[in-house]
Amino acid sequence: MKILVIGGGGREHALVWKLKNGDAAREIFCAPGNPGIAEIAECVPLQVKQIIELADFAEDNKIDLSVVGPEDPLTDGIVDLFEKRNLPVFGPNRQSALLEGSKAYAKKVMERFNVPTAEYCEFDDFEKALAYVKTQGVPIVIKADGLAAGKGVTVAETLAEAETALRSIMVQKVFGESGTKVVIEECLRGEEMTVLAFVDGKTVLPMVPSQDHKPVFDSDRGPNTGGMGAYSPVPQLEKWLPEINERVLRPVAEGLAEEGTPFSGILYAGLMITENGPKVIEFNVRFGDPEAQVILPRLENDLAEIFLAVTEKRLHEVKLRWQSGASVCVIAAAPGYPGPPTKGLPITLPEVHLAGTQIFHAGTAIQNEQLVTSGGRVFGISAQGTDIAEARKHAYSLLEKVQFNGKHFRRDIAAKALS
Ligand code: AMP
Ligand code: GLY
Repeated sequence: MKILVIGGGGREHALVWKLKNGDAAREIFCAPGNPGIAEIAECVPLQVKQIIELADFAEDNKIDLSVVGPEDPLTDGIVDLFEKRNLPVFGPNRQSALLEGSKAYAKKVMERFNVPTAEYCEFDDFEKALAYVKTQGVPIVIKADGLAAGKGVTVAETLAEAETALRSIMVQKVFGESGTKVVIEECLRGEEMTVLAFVDGKTVLPMVPSQDHKPVFDSDRGPNTGGMGAYSPVPQLEKWLPEINERVLRPVAEGLAEEGTPFSGILYAGLMITENGPKVIEFNVRFGDPEAQVILPRLENDLAEIFLAVTEKRLHEVKLRWQSGASVCVIAAAPGYPGPPTKGLPITLPEVHLAGTQIFHAGTAIQNEQLVTSGGRVFGISAQGTDIAEARKHAYSLLEKVQFNGKHFRRDIAAKALS
């Protein structure tokens, strides 16, 4: 098969790397890719928002399957466009992508299918939203309705914080049209977990769970990021998986199919495991980043075969197989992240690294033949081991050998599983 992966971050490096390890993918292209991806696939100079040009590329190059990494092209309708042109593509269409693209839409879906989630109200008027926050009190969670690159959520501990968040979303419009509406939610307490599933409209195949680390500093302090590291499995929360499958993943997939809008692609459930059990914090419609960088190394199947089974609606024929043991990914971030990162810093990488460890590029570029930083999350350093402690040790020791000025990372990735 000739495969086109769309995207250029750590998640897409992990996708390309995993596809490359299977037999089905003969030739892999990635648009736009990055310097790490360029070592194992052919990078195509097209950005993820250039959906018409991407479709032209897929058609001209007789691509057998295109795989969409990030959310933006999905909510822009890249899948609808490819399907209209009879180009095989893995991912949800624009309607299904609303599960991630509109938090208010996702809440209504959860209400219809009785999926456990936080209580909420939605508003498109700033004064009414503020009045509601005052009646509810704090802590309270304020969410921009639309996409905001993971930055549209504020867990407000004071009324002043809640008001600032509402004002910046609804009045100053820092997220543009994404802030036309807000969802205001009850604050849930507990430990978070991510469960991803392959869905082909009817069959739901959950993957092994993982846990992300969103805040930038150790012990979950500081502003939220796209994710500073992840690990899988999550032994302390594993017992909730059957309930998550029965009350979240299956009802959503089956409910949407019954309503005539079947979901196809990756369904990502971000969950809070509260003292009353799992509740959904958010849905995404793609692999997580950095969740993909820990899950895909544990997958034993040929990923291309699974993607094909989804697009051909025969996922029921697939049985997922997983490496026992564990996988840990630590993000090496550029100075400044999650604010504007310093770009152009020279990077040194080790010449060789152990089998069972991976250096996934995210924000890197080549400048004058030198590898340099070009984004906030620069690398995801992943490692596998017989258990979490071993995987973690390998990931951190490889991270030491990845060097650039001002590199920062969390030192407590996977610590919750070990305490
Ligand atoms: P999201 O962008 O929806 O993933 O939200 C970012 C982060 O905000 C989540 O990973 C949670 O840590 C936190 N969060 C979102 N919704 C809630 C909620 N209802 N209660 C507590 N924390 C939340
Ligand atoms: N790591 C969180 C996300 O991909 O949305």
